[in-house]
Amino acid sequence: MPKQDPQMQRKVEHLFLAEKFFTDEAFADFDRVRLLHDALPELRVEDIDLSVDFLGKKMALPIYFNAITGGSKPSTRFNTELAQLAQKLDIPVSSGSMGVFLRLPETKDSFTVLRENNPDGFVMANVSGKANAEQAQQTVDLLHADALQVHLNALQELAMPEGDQSFFWLDNIKEIVENVNVPVIVKEVGFGMSQNDLQKLLAVGIKNVDISGFGGTDFAQIESARNNELDLTYLDRFSLSTVESLLETNRFQDKLTIFASGGIRTPMDVVKALRLGAKSVGMSGLVLHHLQKYSLSEAEIFFAEFVKQLKLIMAAIGAKSIDDIKKAPIVFDESLVNYAKQRQII
Ligand code: FNR
Repeated sequence: MPKQDPQMQRKVEHLFLAEKFFTDEAFADFDRVRLLHDALPELRVEDIDLSVDFLGKKMALPIYFNAITGGSKPSTRFNTELAQLAQKLDIPVSSGSMGVFLRLPETKDSFTVLRENNPDGFVMANVSGKANAEQAQQTVDLLHADALQVHLNALQELAMPEGDQSFFWLDNIKEIVENVNVPVIVKEVGFGMSQNDLQKLLAVGIKNVDISGFGGTDFAQIESARNNELDLTYLDRFSLSTVESLLETNRFQDKLTIFASGGIRTPMDVVKALRLGAKSVGMSGLVLHHLQKYSLSEAEIFFAEFVKQLKLIMAAIGAKSIDDIKKAPIVFDESLVNYAKQRQII
């Protein structure tokens, strides 16, 4: 691999800065929603079914490892471990952006480890809205991917000293969804999506979105740390939190399959995101933190406990299946009610 490639260098910096800024004390977004328990659950914990249909394939849990990395030595390690962990848990796993592979095909091994270490699992390729359909198909073919994520990262590009200054993505997305031979999910990278965005995506034929809101990994902060000249952390205030973005999807939930990510830290966050309409819930910062700070075997223990607690919360709200979660009563705090009113969601 070429040593000084700036895009590769940036990917490595993202990994380590994400860890530097990671905090267990997530932004209190999910605290604005209360889930009410069921005093008479009428169920046995061992009968609780956590499985979910993920774009046509049955997965064991309503969680997935979202896009993180590829294209460098450290990313080969992380993608290998992510794939192994995803295989153990029987959950989907995504590649980080494969733009580096399209430009430098010699980086392919850092991506293909995802498939080699998870031969029968659900693996997603990932490109930016800049990619055309042919390029997108190339990334799908490389990973024998089951789905393709197309990421929207305008705010991140604007915060990067070397970032793009021109954003014409809708035609590419339309072309991709019409021509690529697997389901397509359009995702944000931690700044959320609004009703306007969802409307535009629907109009070009998109059926699946990951709203990936603000509250966890913050690329305004990460890019500011890479940029010696400017502090651009205020850019995150443009953005929508994960809970706000989920509210924005309210009117679209019969037309779009909604996935949620951004700041997921606890099983309770997962259950709340599912209650607000997500089909499955993605995490990047949290799993990367466990792999960077600890180890693969520690991450395995962490996620085994995470799954146990997921069941415990489902028992407490009387949910025997993921679909049952949608029936649990919830209460919004004042700031969310205010948000929803102003956005004409309620
Ligand atoms: C990301 N994310 C990301 N997303 C994407 O679509 N393509 C990418 O290449 C990357 N790269 C990337 C690198 C690192 C180090 C992190 C932590 C994240 C964004 C990610 O998929 C997700 O949308 C956000 O990180 C929000 O989720 P978390 O991290 O708060 O769980």
